[in-house]
Amino acid sequence: MLRVAVVGSGPSGVYTAQSLVAQTRVPDVRVDVLDRLPCPYGLVRYGVAPDHEKIKSLQNSLRTVLEHERITFLGNVQVGGDGLPPERLRELYHAVVYCVGAATDRSLGVPGEDLPGSHSATEFVSWYSAHPDAAANGFALQARSVVVIGVGNVAVDVARILARSAEELRPTDVPHPALGVLAGSQVHEVHMAGRRGPSQARFTTKELRELGTLPGARVVVEEAELARDPAYAPGAAPPDAPAPLSAVARRNVEVLRGWAEAGTHATGPDPMRTIHLRFFLRPVELLERDGRVAGVRFAHTAPDGSGGIQDTGAYEDIDAQLVLRAVGYRGLPLPGLPFDPARGTVPHLAGRVLRDGVPAPGEYVAGWIKRGPTGVIGSNRSCAKETVASLLDDAPQLSGRPTAPDPLAALRAWGLRPVQWDGWQSIERAEAEWGRSLGRGPVKIPDWAGLLEAAHGSAH
Ligand SMILES: Cc1cc2nc3c(=O)[nH]c(=O)nc-3n(C[C@H](O)[C@H](O)[C@H](O)COP(=O)(O)OP(=O)(O)OC[C@H]3O[C@@H](n4cnc5c(N)ncnc54)[C@H](O)[C@@H]3O)c2cc1C
Ligand SMILES: NC(=O)c1ccc[n+]([C@@H]2O[C@H](COP(=O)([O-])OP(=O)(O)OC[C@H]3O[C@@H](n4cnc5c(N)ncnc54)[C@H](OP(=O)(O)O)[C@@H]3O)[C@@H](O)[C@H]2O)c1
Repeated sequence: MLRVAVVGSGPSGVYTAQSLVAQTRVPDVRVDVLDRLPCPYGLVRYGVAPDHEKIKSLQNSLRTVLEHERITFLGNVQVGGDGLPPERLRELYHAVVYCVGAATDRSLGVPGEDLPGSHSATEFVSWYSAHPDAAANGFALQARSVVVIGVGNVAVDVARILARSAEELRPTDVPHPALGVLAGSQVHEVHMAGRRGPSQARFTTKELRELGTLPGARVVVEEAELARDPAYAPGAAPPDAPAPLSAVARRNVEVLRGWAEAGTHATGPDPMRTIHLRFFLRPVELLERDGRVAGVRFAHTAPDGSGGIQDTGAYEDIDAQLVLRAVGYRGLPLPGLPFDPARGTVPHLAGRVLRDGVPAPGEYVAGWIKRGPTGVIGSNRSCAKETVASLLDDAPQLSGRPTAPDPLAALRAWGLRPVQWDGWQSIERAEAEWGRSLGRGPVKIPDWAGLLEAAHGSAH
């Protein structure tokens, strides 16, 4: 028998476990999937936007994997930090695969970034996703104007949630306190700003188009601004493009051109909110008034002729009482594991952790902590497969190592209180029950105490 611990139950952890039990090269692989949270599924539960129900429902296929007879879910098990040290975990299993994702945000590195009212998109996403580490009262949404910095899919998610009404979000699993705040939202203007041109935006076309379908919002783009992008000219091959335009970039530009030609784009007759989609704006400073954020100063940029941008010397201030920085996620070092601070990832060779540049058999990585914080859920499947192939190649030398006869007992002896699958099912039942009592579908429990009480009963 080969005993493997997978640390992290997001897509990469679940796909790793699935690949391990589905293969036939090494028979009888047993996998324990550990997570610091009492709940599985990582960013599928705590990141994917609540109004994307179809993607959220991927949790059902992840569930089927975790219910496999040779896979055991153990939540509430933190590895590293205050939890179990990686070297101790390593003694319990033949191999450990770290699938811990990229839990924090990239910083902008401009003055004013830490002013009250300036938040990372990570914090906002965690708040509307009921992550138990997020403060339940983290956002009041008294701002009339919000600036979202970045033009990736996370920026689109947060802009869309800000632009939707509470009624639209009520059928989703948005936590109840957040729904109350969204119902009282004063937000009228959402300015989403990219430092480069529309053909270099990172959002995907489906997500962009969706902004134009919101019942209570209109999208405004500025034709003159879009036209600064050489790729905007209809049918023209961009003269300074370093590489041919990707299909996604071409489709994005088409959508934006359509909106520009229509003046503004709105679905309903009297939209309550406006999403301004802006480009060629590089944030240089967050502005302050009365100790809080009051806006963002942007430097205007223009294509530099070789695919990049340069400042034009002009500046623009956009008023905002709330600023959300959606400039990407970042992996955190896990004490006891090597870490590349420049990339925010664990150095690896085909998934094998590199210690001092040398593969360390028995320690592996998959997902965002391996590749960096890009890629959709499906990208983690092939990533996990590569890692599992390396692990299976190493299996002959791993299977001879001594391991703990009962890892669960060893985790308990270490003082941990794992939430097992039945505990997670109790959380799901409690969330369904809470939702029913509110006339809603399942509503997520937003705090640690509530989750652990639901999982273990009041004796936690
Ligand atoms: C806001 C947001 C929305 C997204 N929406 C979509 C979408 O709609 N569609 C799509 O295809 N992709 C989407 N993605 C991308 C997708 O979520 C990622 O590709 C995917 O979640 C990465 O998987 P992962 O397993 O590497 O990391 P994660 O999903 O982050 O999972 C990591 C897991 O590890 C656990 N963990 C972390 N540290 C420890 C530790 N020390 N000990 C134990 N456990 C630990 C965490 O609790 C977590 O459960 C989105 C990403 C973000 C940020
Ligand atoms: N619905 C979905 O499928 C969905 C939803 C959410 C997330 N995801 C996926 O999750 C991954 C992460 O998404 P993400 O939006 O966090 O990251 P992302 O796609 O990398 O986008 C980050 C954005 O931040 C900008 N940025 C970075 N540093 C900046 C700075 N210093 N100043 C100004 N702007 C800066 C980037 O601009 P530059 O390009 O100029 O660097 C880019 O516009 C992506 O692969 C995404 O597709 C998917």
